[in-house]
Amino acid sequence: MATVTEPRRATRRAFQTKLLIGGQWRDSVSGKTFGTFNPATEEEIAQVAEGDAADIELAVKAARKAFDSGPWRKTDARDRGRLMNRLADLIEKHLDELAELETLDNGKPISESKNADLPLVIDCFRYYAGWADKIHGQTIPIRGNYFCYTKREPVGVAGQIIPWNFPMLMVAWKWGPALAAGCTVVLKPAEQTPLTALRLGELALEAGYPEGVINIVPGFGETAGAALVGHPGVDKLAFTGEGRTAQIIMRSAADTLKRITFELGGKSPNIVFADADLDAAVDGALLGLYLNQGQCCCAGSRLFVQESVHDKFVDRLAAKVKARRLGDPFDPATEQGPQVDKAQFDKILSYIAKGRDQGAKCVTGGERFGDKGFFIAPTVFTDVKDDMAIAREEIFGPVLSVIKFRDVEEVIERANTTDYGLVAAVWTRDIGKAHAIADRIRAGTVWVNCYDVFDAAAPFGGFKRSGIGRELGEKALDNYTELKTVTVALD
Ligand code: NAI
Ligand code: MG
Repeated sequence: MATVTEPRRATRRAFQTKLLIGGQWRDSVSGKTFGTFNPATEEEIAQVAEGDAADIELAVKAARKAFDSGPWRKTDARDRGRLMNRLADLIEKHLDELAELETLDNGKPISESKNADLPLVIDCFRYYAGWADKIHGQTIPIRGNYFCYTKREPVGVAGQIIPWNFPMLMVAWKWGPALAAGCTVVLKPAEQTPLTALRLGELALEAGYPEGVINIVPGFGETAGAALVGHPGVDKLAFTGEGRTAQIIMRSAADTLKRITFELGGKSPNIVFADADLDAAVDGALLGLYLNQGQCCCAGSRLFVQESVHDKFVDRLAAKVKARRLGDPFDPATEQGPQVDKAQFDKILSYIAKGRDQGAKCVTGGERFGDKGFFIAPTVFTDVKDDMAIAREEIFGPVLSVIKFRDVEEVIERANTTDYGLVAAVWTRDIGKAHAIADRIRAGTVWVNCYDVFDAAAPFGGFKRSGIGRELGEKALDNYTELKTVTVALD
């Protein structure tokens, strides 16, 4: 395995490692810090100020002040849009540096940081910048001599808790609709990957966001995260991460009846029919599962392949999986980097062991790659049965379960036999069949003859235990607005 070269630009400037509260960079109240690591080398990158309940208290106070009595309330909607466009421009200007910092902290290949994450981040901010002055209500013809209208007002202070798999993109998905709607935010980045969020905080101040509008408190879930969830001064809580964490959050948010939205996990079916363009479907299966080291909520981790093409399909797929280039995430040719940390690495290896124990056949991979860094060889299991752990539970790693099926009815039923419902994909040249599947699969997104097609304008979120609410698109503005009905007697 290649050795990891330090990123040139990212290391040239000092990392921001403090908390952003009320427009100031501060140490944590406790003075504590925690390490963030390069998962390719297992070496520490930096010590970051560790926020906990005391810092959340200050951050919520700052966000409340900016919302209740600060200039943000009176900022014209169009100027909120201009600020967000300015932030997008600054991100674009610093694209290489941000991409390198993301790769350093998260381990994802630089080609992905540069060509996928960053462009999506910029696009998301520009999309919501456009919405800022287009969030309006209706006039409603009610009975009687009244003038009735609705207006949409910002919900208030938004607490936002994000994971480590797409650290910057998750900031964009959260800040975009919240700031466009006129909310103020307190963001808790994931403890594994706090660096790019902090850098975005610097750029937001440079863009001109008033103090207290954007607050960032890195720290751990059980301390900083839980304090944000429980805080009575937080009106709305948005969370992306594990379902079990969401359950804890929902219980705690009940005390203050916070508005909550969740974007959680999946065990998404990717269904390949015999009549599909099989080469395109092989590439779609690869992208759908191995992108971002398999650390995607929408990973197509249950690959259903129709019986008559199964063996041929698996051969072509396995050849491509074996050819994947693992190694130094800073090498532009690298396709797969390390998993984000030791906990994820261990979890994935334990699922691989379970797959073998329960009788699935490991066609390729199935072990650690190299002896340094949290790399896992891209893995394909065949002969997977619906009740095996690797067919039911979210692995969040480069482990694909290939499942054989016979016909449409059967595959729809099996695809829906899951607690999750985030995405599904279907590969077929029969357009009627594609629409029938899209109609009957219980999932928030269905891709037909494509995978992982994301756009800031297209809503995203889960049925069933994959989430509550939708992110992106016009729909996400609902998460950050309250609807007010005003009725005026006309005589
Ligand atoms: P997690 O859900 O525990 O962490 C996500 C975020 O929630 C982090 O910022 C964390 O600090 C925070 N958090 C944790 N406990 C909290 C609490 N009690 N109160 C408030 N905030 C809390 O996910 P984790 O532990 O990083 O990964 C575990 C598994 O979750 C993964 O293996 C994967 O299966 C799944 N996951 C799914 C993601 C998705 O995009 N749907 C993203 C990350 C993880
Ligand atoms: Mg956790």
